[in-house]
Amino acid sequence: MTIHTLPTPALLLELSVFQANRKAMSDLLKGTSLALRPHYKSHKCAAIAHMQMADGAVGMTCAKLDEALDLADSGIEDILIANQIADPAKIRRGASLAGDCRLTVLADCAENVDAWEKAAAEAGTVVHCLVEYEIGMQRCGVTDPAEAVALAKRIAGCSHLRFDGIQAYAGHVSHMESAEERRRYTKENGAKIRTLLALLASAGVPAKTVSGGSTGTAAIKAMEGLYTELQAGSYLFMDATYRNLGLPFGNALTVLSTVVSAREGLTVVDAGVKSCGVDQGMPDPVGMDVDHIVASEEHFQLHGAVPHDPNRKLSVGTGVRLIPGHCCSTVNLHDRIYVVDGEKVVDRLQITARGACR
Ligand SMILES: Cc1ncc(COP(=O)(O)O)c(C=O)c1O
Repeated sequence: MTIHTLPTPALLLELSVFQANRKAMSDLLKGTSLALRPHYKSHKCAAIAHMQMADGAVGMTCAKLDEALDLADSGIEDILIANQIADPAKIRRGASLAGDCRLTVLADCAENVDAWEKAAAEAGTVVHCLVEYEIGMQRCGVTDPAEAVALAKRIAGCSHLRFDGIQAYAGHVSHMESAEERRRYTKENGAKIRTLLALLASAGVPAKTVSGGSTGTAAIKAMEGLYTELQAGSYLFMDATYRNLGLPFGNALTVLSTVVSAREGLTVVDAGVKSCGVDQGMPDPVGMDVDHIVASEEHFQLHGAVPHDPNRKLSVGTGVRLIPGHCCSTVNLHDRIYVVDGEKVVDRLQITARGACR
């Protein structure tokens, strides 16, 4: 079967690049003290999570309880939900899930710690807990080190919770184009984290785990010797936003679309924001220069598209591969990924946690 028989838009994964990305991450972490705990949100595909475990991952990171349930259902035994959960019903479900796998959750306030303790006590389980430390992203997390220590002590004092350490995720640094700037911010954040770790140790609640990091900071974190776990997700697939950062990973994921209308200066394809995430930027059509792209639900309007190959015609019915602006949001729009070797379809993987956003 070839990609020409696939109804478009279709999500394609180029096998050789995907395998090279897996190897590049293993090579990057080899001989360092940084373990891989890859983020599930980037592929949401249980079969790929198991490949990452086979690559040496210590467990999976995910963003949502529904993703954790999907991972556990597939047999993954060590799961971090790298997000706050506040809904009591979800906390109860999470606490019971902790009976089936080693579950770690985040907390950044005392109320949340107390809610997890109560639910875990009722479920008769043990839930591992990291204090989220805010290091500049302005999302969740404790900003004051003394407050982080107090929270760690509160967790350590709970009978059904285990204080494992901290999460410090600097998502605002991941996509900085200059490697120098990414290094500088990582160093500054590293100093803040070291201060907190010293305070935790002297308060009798040492952190075993320091979790965080992304595709954009993976190489820096591997050299830094501070974090114990790397939560990178996009490295497997990559996208148009990450491609210019000079990372050792290639673009493996494309959305195959079909030209549905073509006239002078304008090529319109049958993929739009309902099949290709644009939250971090427009897709990059493979093998052509484009002046600019306008997106609508079911279409991308490629203005001024000129193929690199002068013999290639962008006529109605032509296939166009688009490198998504953001791989994670794109994956969530599809039911399956077609694994391809060039034009040959070699496998089909179900995106088991598609839409798992609760
Ligand atoms: C908490 C957390 N960890 C890790 C990541 C992985 O980042 P990336 O896909 O850029 O590797 C993200 C991405 O948003 C995240 O929110």
